[in-house]
Amino acid sequence: MIKWNGAFPPADEQERDHQTLLARFQQTVERADIGFFRHCHDKGAGTAAKTTARLFAHKKHLVHVGIGGSSLGPEMLLTALGVEKGKRVQFLNNIDPDALAHQMTEWALPDTFFYVVSKSGTTAETMAALAIITSWLESKGVSAAKWKEHLVVCTDPQKGDLRALARELHLSCLDVPSNVGGRFSVLTDVGLFPAAWAGVNVDQLLLGAETARGLLLAKDADKNLLTRTALWIEARRLEGRTMTVLMPYSSLLKDFTAWWVQLWAESLGKEGKGLTPVMAFGATDQHSQMQLFMQGPQDKAMLMLDVAVHARDFALKNTLNAAAAKALAPFTLGQLMEAEFSGTLKALEDEKRPYIRLTALQVDAQTVGALVLYFECLTVAVGLLLNIDPFNQPGVEAGKKYANDWLTRHHP
Ligand code: PA5
Repeated sequence: MIKWNGAFPPADEQERDHQTLLARFQQTVERADIGFFRHCHDKGAGTAAKTTARLFAHKKHLVHVGIGGSSLGPEMLLTALGVEKGKRVQFLNNIDPDALAHQMTEWALPDTFFYVVSKSGTTAETMAALAIITSWLESKGVSAAKWKEHLVVCTDPQKGDLRALARELHLSCLDVPSNVGGRFSVLTDVGLFPAAWAGVNVDQLLLGAETARGLLLAKDADKNLLTRTALWIEARRLEGRTMTVLMPYSSLLKDFTAWWVQLWAESLGKEGKGLTPVMAFGATDQHSQMQLFMQGPQDKAMLMLDVAVHARDFALKNTLNAAAAKALAPFTLGQLMEAEFSGTLKALEDEKRPYIRLTALQVDAQTVGALVLYFECLTVAVGLLLNIDPFNQPGVEAGKKYANDWLTRHHP
C-alpha cells in the first residue's frame, strides 16, 4: 500500500542505528500506557462504532464536535474517503460565534444529530459547543430525556464530565481508550464512528493499519520504512533542516496533512526541540510554496507522496485551437499529475533539496489506514531520536489552565 523510492543511504551503513531504533520503538509501543499501535488490531476494534452507526443510520446530517485530535483525524478520513450519497457531515471544531451561526443554519430536526468527542471530557471549547447544542435542542422542544435520540458522545471509558453526563442522560457513549492520546486516536471510535456512519469501510481501514505493522516492524533495515525514514529525517535535522514538509499530490489527502501537522507539532515540539511541520499539496502548491521549497533557505526535509492509481481519470482530448491545450490532448489528467510530480522531483534534485518519495497505491480505506499508522509511528520514532516524550503536551495544558483561571476570575 505504501512504497518508497531511493534517497536513503545503503541499508548496511544504517544497520546498527536501525536495530537500536527499532528496539526502542518496540519497547515504547508495547508499554501498557501506550495503546495506539495495539488498539487498531485488537479483536473487536470497530465493532462498537459500527453498531452505533447503524443505530443512527436513519439520520441524514452528522455534526461532529471536537477540537485538536478529537476532530482533525475524523475530518481527514472523510475528506479522503468521502461521505455516501444522501448524508452530510459538518465539523464544529472551533468556538468562533460567526462560523457557528453559519453552521447552525443547516441544523434541522429530525435529520441532524451530534457526535461530541473529548478524551478528557472537560475541554472548554467542546463543552461550550455541547451547551449550545443542548440549548438548541431544548429550543426545538426536545427535552433532556430525549437528547439520546440526537446525541452520541465519545470519551475516556472511566473519567471526565462527559462520561458522567452520558451516564446521567443515557446517551450512546463510545470510548477513547485511556491509553490512546487524542492525536493518536483516529483509528479508535473517535474516527471509526463518523467513518462508519458516512459509509466508509472501517474494516478495510483497520486492515490497512494491520498490514502496515509488518512494514513498520521489519527486522531488515532495507525493508523497514519506519526506521529508514526516521533516521533520514534525523540526519537532515543534524544538517540544520528543522522543517518537515509533507506534500501529497492529491486533493483528497489535503486534510491528511492538517492532521499530520498537529501530530508532528504537538508530539515533537518541546524542551526547546522539534521539527516544524509544513503542509502542502500538489500540484496546487507548485504555484505557491514550491518556489520557497526549491530556492529558499536550506532548512527543509521533504516527504513527497504520490498516488499510483486514481479511482477515476479524465481524457484531455480536445478540439481547442490553443497550443497549450493541444499539447495535453494525448494524455489524461492522472498522467498530467504524474508529469508534474516527477518534474518537481527532478527540479528538487537539481537544487539539491533533499526529499523522500513515498507512493500510496490509491486513496482508499486500506491505504489511508496504512498511512495513518505509518505517520503515527514515524512521529514516535522521531520523538525517540530527539529524546523527547512524544505523547504529552505540557505547553498546551498550560494554556488550557490559564484560560480556566481567567474564567474563574471573571465568573460573575
Ligand atoms: O492530541 C491531543 O491530546 C490534543 O490535541 C487533544 O486532542 C485536544 O486538546 C482535545 O482534547 P480532548 O479530546 O480532551 O477534548
